[in-house]
Amino acid sequence: MGFRDDFVWGGASASYQVEGAAAEDGRGPSVWDMFCREPGRILDGSSGDTACDHYHLYQKDVNLMKEIDYKAYRFSIAWPRIIPGGDGKLNEKGLDFYDRLLDSLAAADITPYATLFHWDYPYALFRRGGWLNPDSPKWFADYVSVVAKRLGDRLPYIFTYNEPQCFIGLSYDNTEHAPGIHFPIWDTLHMLHHALLGHGLAVQALRSIAPKTQIGYAPTGSAHYPATDSAADREAARKAYFAVEERPFWSVSVWSDPIFLGRYPEELLKKYGQYMPPIGQDDMKIISEKLDFLGQNIYNGSPVRSDGKGGYEYPKRKTGYAFTAAKWPVTPEALYWGPKFLQERYGMPLYITENGLSCQDTVSVDGKVHDPARIDFLRRYLRELRRASEDGVDIRGYFHWCVTDNFEWAKGYTDRFGMVYCDFETQERILKDSAYWYRDIIRSNGKDL
Ligand code: FCB
Repeated sequence: MGFRDDFVWGGASASYQVEGAAAEDGRGPSVWDMFCREPGRILDGSSGDTACDHYHLYQKDVNLMKEIDYKAYRFSIAWPRIIPGGDGKLNEKGLDFYDRLLDSLAAADITPYATLFHWDYPYALFRRGGWLNPDSPKWFADYVSVVAKRLGDRLPYIFTYNEPQCFIGLSYDNTEHAPGIHFPIWDTLHMLHHALLGHGLAVQALRSIAPKTQIGYAPTGSAHYPATDSAADREAARKAYFAVEERPFWSVSVWSDPIFLGRYPEELLKKYGQYMPPIGQDDMKIISEKLDFLGQNIYNGSPVRSDGKGGYEYPKRKTGYAFTAAKWPVTPEALYWGPKFLQERYGMPLYITENGLSCQDTVSVDGKVHDPARIDFLRRYLRELRRASEDGVDIRGYFHWCVTDNFEWAKGYTDRFGMVYCDFETQERILKDSAYWYRDIIRSNGKDL
């Protein structure tokens, strides 16, 4: 009982959030580099120019991961570091960085899980139409082929995308994220289709160049759960979890049905079919190239109940409900019901590729960083995940977001999600109390939760 014996415990990060060295060794600009320069876009007026300087301090970070006893590290590869103009000429120095990182992880016996695209889209490609350009799927696949050729034999696990919900929805619908431009629904649906095609072509390239690599995908979405244990509420939550609501880009099914079931959800076609781009004859086949696992980022969810008429509704959260420093609700149930519903629908082995919270962490007078709220949050969530595992959900691993505090997109440095505190002026790192706690949880394989 509990987690499987070979359960993968780790932590996650993303290139633009941690690497810094934005203009070093030939890296090209991404949409995020440009977005950060626009006044008013980032809460504290900052950028990822230096971030945690992971580009230079990666060895220090790997040492810290080793101290926490991580089994695995999920990081992303920066497309504009590898191909500064997005397509065409390679930048060997960019590839060298990931070579060094992989050497360091291998020496520490930490398994790498690489994400190929975590939002730092090459600015040069954005200027050519980005995901709207019909060549955009090929641009992504070409970049992936480069990574596969050079690093593929050292990358046992790969995720194509992180949270497409965000790099299309937050970027081109509600404009909170780079490049922050609103496009109408017919354009964003076109982007959706191109992004999905890019994923499929990338999978094909990986299968032929790096046949030993296992491939997954890391979307997100609010993990709805039943408000009570009644059968009607369970059914309502299941329905709501995969529904296509008013903001289709937030939906789980819009981004995962095509990949795992080979079709767009009926509800999307019913509501938005008139705006969908033409679907090529082989498109759905390409998009649904078989994957080895599903990664899901789950931070929270919403309670759902039956409306008594075969539909569902969202009851008001209870007054004074718990939330994090980022004002995200604390809903541990999401790590039970999310995996359960995902397994039922897609039947894939599952990794939780991100989960965690931001706290108002500071260095105490004793020089330590005490974060009891993080420990309590993780304990509650991980107990639910363990329960899902005990109920037969095939959960292979869990990646805490994130290793070090870092550049939290539009929130700049105002949200601290790390288990390792980072002083962004001195680049000093301090393991927070939660890091020591997590180390013990890892060592007991979750028994001490
Ligand atoms: C997720 C992102 C990740 C980080 C966390 C807090 O949506 O994938 O980069 O910002 O949220």
